[in-house]
Amino acid sequence: MELTGRVALVTGAARGIGRATALALATAGADVAVGDVLPAVEETAAAVRAAGRRAAAAVFDVADPAAVGAGVARVREALGPVDVLVNNAGIVNNIAPVARMTPEAWQRELAVNLSGAFNLIREVVGGMAERGRGRIVNVSSIAAWGGLHRQAAYAASKAGLLGLTKTVALEHARHGVTCNAVLPGLIATELVEAMPAEIRAAAVAATPARRLGLTEEVARLIAFLASDAAAFINGAEIPVDGGLSLNMSPLASVREARETRRPA
Ligand SMILES: NC(=O)c1ccc[n+]([C@@H]2O[C@H](COP(=O)([O-])OP(=O)(O)OC[C@H]3O[C@@H](n4cnc5c(N)ncnc54)[C@H](O)[C@@H]3O)[C@@H](O)[C@H]2O)c1
Repeated sequence: MELTGRVALVTGAARGIGRATALALATAGADVAVGDVLPAVEETAAAVRAAGRRAAAAVFDVADPAAVGAGVARVREALGPVDVLVNNAGIVNNIAPVARMTPEAWQRELAVNLSGAFNLIREVVGGMAERGRGRIVNVSSIAAWGGLHRQAAYAASKAGLLGLTKTVALEHARHGVTCNAVLPGLIATELVEAMPAEIRAAAVAATPARRLGLTEEVARLIAFLASDAAAFINGAEIPVDGGLSLNMSPLASVREARETRRPA
């Protein structure tokens, strides 16, 4: 992975997958701007600098188009035009059956997880196309494929990201810009640590790899998609899930349970 001389912008980079991605991009040679609603994002910028790269931190809400415009302008001023955009900021703020989900909670989750990516893409994709080069990676979820009990807004927002990803890929492939989606399974971050332990344990049991993923395992895929080596990969949906999405069919789990019960 070689990203020397590239400028990357990662949203939701104060912690978790976003922070690991900022560091993976810096390790590959990129200068990295990090955005988040949390001022702690400054600490990620400091870690990028410690890795020997230029960094900039911007505190903004991806759901607010004006704040995104101002944030991207600050990044451009500090580091130059954005070559690599990683739309990672995401929330789960709304766990309820669809009939009890409030319109406000639904709107907020869509605004951050889906419109947030749109807000960022529209700020940078024109410049990428003019320069004939760009990489956009959207962090979706395997919930986009399988749906998720009591998380209709989350699953819908992550499925919506796939439509956005493919359309941007179609519109800008001829300009040297790619847009791909990564779909994490269960990754060990604060988002997942906040889940009830029994649900987390059930998710690990349903994951063929029998463990949570590491943030670095998602970050490495994103860094690859950001590199020249991935120039011909466009509009793709790539799971990083230890095989969890293979197990979404009940038949697969039943068969696996039978295999596990058999003596070796
Ligand atoms: N952890 C998992 O198992 C998992 C699985 C599938 C998908 N994902 C997706 O990966 C991404 C990162 O998840 P994570 O587990 O690292 O989560 P996390 O909660 O640890 O980190 C998310 C970051 O996004 C920031 N953020 C939230 N709302 C924002 C907003 N409106 N504007 C700017 N920043 C905002 C948060 O402050 C936080 O720093 C999310 O999009 C999430 O949906 C995670």
